[in-house]
Amino acid sequence: MTRKQHVPWKAAGAASEEQHSVDEVVRETGWVFNNVRGPALTLAAFVESGDQETGAYLQAFSLQGLASAEATIVEIGSGIGRMTAGLTRLFGSVYACDLDAAFLERCRETVAQFGMPERLHTCHVSDGRTLPVPDGVADLTFSYITLQHCQPDDALALVREAVRVTRPGGAVALNFRTWVGRDAVLWPLGSTIRGLWRVPGLGPRLARRRFATRLGWQANRLAPSEVLPRLAGLVDVQVHRSHLRRPFGAPGATEATFDGINPSHWWLVARRAT
Ligand SMILES: C[S@@+](CC[C@H](N)C(=O)[O-])C[C@H]1O[C@@H](n2cnc3c(N)ncnc32)[C@H](O)[C@@H]1O
Repeated sequence: MTRKQHVPWKAAGAASEEQHSVDEVVRETGWVFNNVRGPALTLAAFVESGDQETGAYLQAFSLQGLASAEATIVEIGSGIGRMTAGLTRLFGSVYACDLDAAFLERCRETVAQFGMPERLHTCHVSDGRTLPVPDGVADLTFSYITLQHCQPDDALALVREAVRVTRPGGAVALNFRTWVGRDAVLWPLGSTIRGLWRVPGLGPRLARRRFATRLGWQANRLAPSEVLPRLAGLVDVQVHRSHLRRPFGAPGATEATFDGINPSHWWLVARRAT
């Protein structure tokens, strides 16, 4: 049986297969990636939004130096390629990994239009926790708005996978969602929606509704204190957060702020030990 936290992605992936072009996917189902939808949207603008965010985060984390035609990046949760297209322009080799095979098909189309398809490898994360990527290939392993959508054990498994696929001396930059005050309401509502996704007939229909999906799709809240002690093999560990949040007091990490980070998010940026 499909795991409940996979339901909205499989539903959106199936919906994306019904569209004739990636531009139409952006108009109809692109909201699962950037919360925007409507007839005026274009794939070009969608990719541009990904380029801007990727560039801002690489700069904020001082990781731009890793990007080159000789370097490899692994992206966990590529979706239909909003960021992947730009990553193929920055890195010589890009492993785009996602839970949904239909998204990966669209990702290849997006990269063909706005990136360098000869640099792309798509990787299906069929169990939601294991990357079909060789050990130590990546100069950088990157993930944005993805780990929050996984069941907590799967998110932690994917973080360990990120460390495994990164070469010694390479870096990881991984985005997480943690608790904020409004979760007192959002978390119970989200748990209810995830339960309803399992109801035959109702569940798949509900999973295509924007409001219900946005309530239910965040399947975990993970703070640095829950992630960092479970990790081995990382050095120069940094936690980046919004300036609107108090410091996490993350054990063994230095902390920094960046205005572009949502107050409910944080980033783990670290090097793999040599
Ligand atoms: C909000 S989208 C973000 C996509 C992309 N990073 C972006 O910013 O446009 C989350 C993506 O994570 C993927 N995803 C969800 N759970 C996953 C898992 N367990 N393993 C891999 N990918 C997953 C979804 O299929 C979806 O494409």
